[in-house]
Amino acid sequence: MKKIILTGDRPTGKLHIGHYVGSLKGRVALQNSGAYEKVLIMIADAQALTDNADNPEKIRKSIFEVALDYLACGIDPNKSTIFIQSQIPELCELSFYYMNLVTVARLKRNPTVKSEIQMRGFEASIPVGFFTYPISQAADITAFKATTVPVGEDQIPMLEQTKEIVRKFNSTYGETLVEPEILLPNNKACLRLPGTDGKAKMSKSLNNCIYLSDSSDTIKQKVMEMFTDPTHLKVSDPGHVENNPVFIYLDAFCKDEHFSLYLPEYSNLDELKSHYTKGGLGDIKVKNFLNSVLQEELNPIYQRRKELEKDLDSIYEILKCGSKNAREIAAATLSDVKKAMKINYFD
Ligand code: TRP
Repeated sequence: MKKIILTGDRPTGKLHIGHYVGSLKGRVALQNSGAYEKVLIMIADAQALTDNADNPEKIRKSIFEVALDYLACGIDPNKSTIFIQSQIPELCELSFYYMNLVTVARLKRNPTVKSEIQMRGFEASIPVGFFTYPISQAADITAFKATTVPVGEDQIPMLEQTKEIVRKFNSTYGETLVEPEILLPNNKACLRLPGTDGKAKMSKSLNNCIYLSDSSDTIKQKVMEMFTDPTHLKVSDPGHVENNPVFIYLDAFCKDEHFSLYLPEYSNLDELKSHYTKGGLGDIKVKNFLNSVLQEELNPIYQRRKELEKDLDSIYEILKCGSKNAREIAAATLSDVKKAMKINYFD
């Protein structure tokens, strides 16, 4: 079977290095692997509006930020289709029919929705659109007959929901939709990068993110101010590498080659960790190393982004053209769906 990738992000701000190691970097590798017939990357503005209905301007601005981040990281519009969710009305139609295949109780059980309801203080007044977004996400995925959805682990419940909808649809109306597989990053540290303050998640509101659009000075400053091990007060104290964001970032970014370049006294991360754990290794030294490792990978992205920012018209064209192409694919699936449901009265 032909393999098709569909993935995406909510445009609620600029993307950070958690997005980068958790998905963008992997997408670029998948795009360049040649193993996929199509790679579709969706800017999920309609989904972003489900919990930002009062702030469309933020979403509108963020569409460009996210597109710049994609292109700066190496998403190539000649190999991947980048498109905007709201420009594909077929996705709404699909969602409407899928809604008949999902119960309220099932949506209430979705762990991602549950935790988001809590985080946003929606308990007393959940917007219906927000509550049903897992159905709309199933439409996003199935509209493109995606076989493979590379996302972070917080999206596991969304993929489960999608698979259930696909099975229910196919068993009710006949084999029409494709059941997708999730593709998680294989490096554990990349699954969820903590904030620079050590909190579990990077989040704009916590002000604990390193952005792909940060200059090298900003990155250096953020690294030097990072939370480490609060019990590691003196250099000679034994330190902890678990829950220590500096080491988690190294787990996500560092390769053995970085040691010969930037810290030749050690040959790999295990040696550095064991010295830190024993005591006698200061945080500043580890942070300086992390800074070098990050700069090597992020500075080219920053430079490319600066270049791309000079020509927003061509970003606009990429999005417009991508949305047109994506719409054609979604329209073909919607037509299959309507035929299967026998609501194609005038064919
Ligand atoms: N829910 C995803 C997120 O919050 C964004 C998204 C919307 C998505 N539709 C999708 C991801 C379809 C993968 C496939 O990051």
